[in-house]
Amino acid sequence: MSDRKRQHWNTIFSTKDDSELGWYESDPSQTLKFLDLVAPAAGATLFLPGAGTSTLVDELLIRGFELVLNDISDKALDRLRARIGSSDRLFWLHHDISRPLPEGVPPVDIWIDRAVLHFLLEEVDIRGYFSNLRALVRPGGHVLLAEFSTNGASSCAGLELHRYSVEELTERMGEEFKLVEQEEYTYINPFGDTRPYVYALYRREDRP
Ligand SMILES: C[S@@+](CC[C@H](N)C(=O)[O-])C[C@H]1O[C@@H](n2cnc3c(N)ncnc32)[C@H](O)[C@@H]1O
Repeated sequence: MSDRKRQHWNTIFSTKDDSELGWYESDPSQTLKFLDLVAPAAGATLFLPGAGTSTLVDELLIRGFELVLNDISDKALDRLRARIGSSDRLFWLHHDISRPLPEGVPPVDIWIDRAVLHFLLEEVDIRGYFSNLRALVRPGGHVLLAEFSTNGASSCAGLELHRYSVEELTERMGEEFKLVEQEEYTYINPFGDTRPYVYALYRREDRP
């Protein structure tokens, strides 16, 4: 894991409250709207590659899912754990999602990324991310990517971003994944700034 990146995020999660985070959503309904299109059964396994302290996690637990909660920041995971407590439906992972996953991470039905992929700038890291995604998402499973769009801000959390069009996301996902739904969505952050995102939902083909 890149120690520099881990430190950067740990400093943020050690010094700011949730409401001071530029990506904080008190209401995760934009993501839930896409999840409702998939309508997974309770007991489905969902993977969050950069869970942070997202309120989405609380909603997903209420809906009865098994969750794999990953983050490069152990401080973020500690804070999330302190809020939601422990449960046998939670699998905690402290990992740089651009690097090969450790053994033992379960296959998942849905991968939900809000504002994580766009922090990866090096091509090798972006490829590493998609390779992990392909390794974990089951045939017939879904992927929701919500990233800063091409007309969005060029930095966040003090870091430069790789902004995405739905065309680039679709190209990177590869032919096995079919685009189900997309939306250009403008998020208003806690400071009142507009942050245009692209939301793209994919379904992986069933194995022939
Ligand atoms: C902008 S925040 C979004 C958090 C959460 N998804 C949400 O919507 O509230 C980005 C999150 O990704 C994590 N992150 C950044 N780079 C990462 C990486 N390479 N691997 C795993 N997590 C990463 C950060 O620690 C942070 O929690």
